[in-house]
Amino acid sequence: MAQYVMKGGNPLHGSVDISGAKNAALAIIAAAIMADEPVTVNNLPDVNDVRVMLEAIREIGAGVDRKDKHTVVIEGSTINALIVDYEYIKKIRASYYLLGSLLGKYKRAEVAMPGGCAIGARPMDLHEKGFRALGAEVDEGYGLISARAKELCGAHIYLDKVSVGATINIMMAAVLAEGKTTIENAAKEPHVVDVANFLNSMGANVKGAGTDMIRITGVKSLHGTEYSVIPDQIEAGTFMYAAAATHGEVTVRNVIPKHLEATTAKLLEAGCRIAEGDDAVTVSARDITLLPTQVTTLPYPGFPTDMQPQMTAVLGLADGVSTVTESIFDNRFKYVAELIRMGASIRVESNIAIITGVDHYTGAHVSAPDLRAGAALVIAGLAADGITTIDDIHFVERGYEDFTEKLRGIGAEIERVDNERDLRKFMFQVS
Ligand code: EPZ
Repeated sequence: MAQYVMKGGNPLHGSVDISGAKNAALAIIAAAIMADEPVTVNNLPDVNDVRVMLEAIREIGAGVDRKDKHTVVIEGSTINALIVDYEYIKKIRASYYLLGSLLGKYKRAEVAMPGGCAIGARPMDLHEKGFRALGAEVDEGYGLISARAKELCGAHIYLDKVSVGATINIMMAAVLAEGKTTIENAAKEPHVVDVANFLNSMGANVKGAGTDMIRITGVKSLHGTEYSVIPDQIEAGTFMYAAAATHGEVTVRNVIPKHLEATTAKLLEAGCRIAEGDDAVTVSARDITLLPTQVTTLPYPGFPTDMQPQMTAVLGLADGVSTVTESIFDNRFKYVAELIRMGASIRVESNIAIITGVDHYTGAHVSAPDLRAGAALVIAGLAADGITTIDDIHFVERGYEDFTEKLRGIGAEIERVDNERDLRKFMFQVS
């Protein structure tokens, strides 16, 4: 079973290029099938979730021509099935975006119901509420969500909770509907805006993405386009927080600093120095003492829940008591037990982690419970005294392209190993 193995203690230094945003790319791949002409998507992140999403649309008959690891040409005219198999939903929840795009284009779709996941219940009620408001019949049963409509008509939809997935799914279902749709209390994440811009580049009429009121005017059809995915704010934040935890100095390149505002603000509060350029951000934590602070995860532009584990790993080394409150998901602190095994002093009460900073972490054999928690354990391992090995790294490889290569490029002693022999070889090399 593949593992990450690392020797901690090296301050990270240098520059790292950030890949395209996974959570934008997954939705854009689903939306691309809505045209009956070729759609070229550039700056795709080369991560497992993208590979699975491309397999899912190929499975229902779409043309998928992977030009290189960052570019794909998708052809939606050859789709011959409207059922997305559980095999794909089991691997990535975001396959549910095919509900919105297939319903929007063909007025019919069946997608296996996504299960829960390591970070809590992941209901679909808001997605279904939006589809019904547009005139679709939506049923759940036999592990499937089925949606169909004689026609889709524009509607006013209020989202009781801010939901990235529901906002994007409803947007896709509405772009070819008759008339006007408004989505109130919409999610404002950069990847929601990216999907709206992508749909507009295909001839859709979506206004107000990035605000809490999105207005869509249905069009007759969508045409081919060429589009480039925005940089991944969470990948960028992860490298920035690794720089902080290891007291290094790292520049993340090919980023949109505005998307990182909350992530950056918390590093400033923790005592780091920050320098921002047009498309780069430098974090310096050399010779500083990390300071405690309070963090609450919120929908964008608040502090992103996908940076919550990484924040906890950094604050675990701060000089004082911090709190991290998780307000989005109901079970996103599973990784804390693993951090405690590395010497962290953290108490979780309901949805709040109370973190008493320690002088250092100690290397240990730990397991990644989910994608971002796995990234947080890598951060802790790179800061720790000694050797850390991490199991279940398939979670991490869902969302981080060339993770160990990029980390080695900024001075980390880390390897991805597939067997005991390679593990021993690494241990020998670093001893
Ligand atoms: C997206 O998940 C991301 N995934 C998540 O990133 C991210 O954590 C999340 O948005 C929040 O930013 C993708 O984009 C593929 P939500 P999503 O709908 O859309 C509740 C990662 O690490 N809710 O915004 O599923 C829900 O339970 C992943 O890349 C309902 O109640 O999240 C949660 O409490 C992890 N009913 C809150 O809304 C619904 O119908 C926000 O969820 C839908 C959601």
